[in-house]
Amino acid sequence: MTVRHFLTLFDLSPDELETLVRRAIVLKRLRDRGEPHMPLTGKVLAMIFEKASTRTRVSFEAGMAQLGGTSFFLSPRDTQLDRGEPVEDTARVLGRMVDVIVIRANNQAMIERFAAHSRVPVINALSDLHHPCQLLADIQTWVEQRGMVRGRTAAWIGDGNNVCHSWIEAARQFGFTLRIATPKGYEPNADIVKAAGDHAVLSSDPKAATRDADLVVTDTWASMGQEEEKAQRMKDFTGFTVDRALMKLAKPDALFMHCLPAYRGYEVAAEVIDGPQSVVWDEAENRLHAQKALLELLLTPSAH
Ligand code: CP
Ligand code: NVA
Repeated sequence: MTVRHFLTLFDLSPDELETLVRRAIVLKRLRDRGEPHMPLTGKVLAMIFEKASTRTRVSFEAGMAQLGGTSFFLSPRDTQLDRGEPVEDTARVLGRMVDVIVIRANNQAMIERFAAHSRVPVINALSDLHHPCQLLADIQTWVEQRGMVRGRTAAWIGDGNNVCHSWIEAARQFGFTLRIATPKGYEPNADIVKAAGDHAVLSSDPKAATRDADLVVTDTWASMGQEEEKAQRMKDFTGFTVDRALMKLAKPDALFMHCLPAYRGYEVAAEVIDGPQSVVWDEAENRLHAQKALLELLLTPSAH
């Protein structure tokens, strides 16, 4: 059997994604009821993170423990990767010792090279191009709050970054429209936009993008690795803050989402992220449940 990786949302079919979201909701209920569910007893997860993380690392570690397995965390500094051992060799070796590998990398290409030489599933925990695990939790949250998302409209306001790319791919896979408003020069990857057809609509007007939207989502204006551009970006993104006035243009019951970490007063006003339309804490919690459903799917495929 060929090994299945999760490097972008296209590694699962639309049907598998919908099943995964429903399964995440079931796993959340099991945990709320305190019912143990340990299908991964004896399985081992390795995490390689080239960048910082709070939610992703903790949700994978906690999730693996709750499913009965164990995990350990590696920064490249602690391994031979930083001393020049090839990614391919590291993948071959780790794949013979553990059951699943989660990688947060500076470049998507590193994760793809790793996956190509790993005999166990590799999960993308964020790269410069994608953050597919985030979208599993985001869609779970949207479904929990509003039922099915097919045919609905979300507005992405801000930087056309890795999380935006995964939102575009989610729009294709789950059948909704994503209106994207970015400052000029900060548009998402043109190939990803083009492949999305009518599912992604670009503009540089936050108001037009937000009007009558079912959901508004944003992210930091300066992602990890862009620290040196921060001052310039703060200027260039003026007018792209999601504040109460902007949210008023969306549907009255529109939700607000943010993958976190958030920077109040920049990409989002405190009145929005801490206000009644915000579902960011559920969104963060759902990282745990959605990734548990993903681990189950990749490690116990016959059960699905
Ligand atoms: N949203 C997210 O991936 O958060 P961390 O960087 O804290 O993992
Ligand atoms: N776009 C952000 C997301 C952090 C979870 C970054 O890459 O830093």
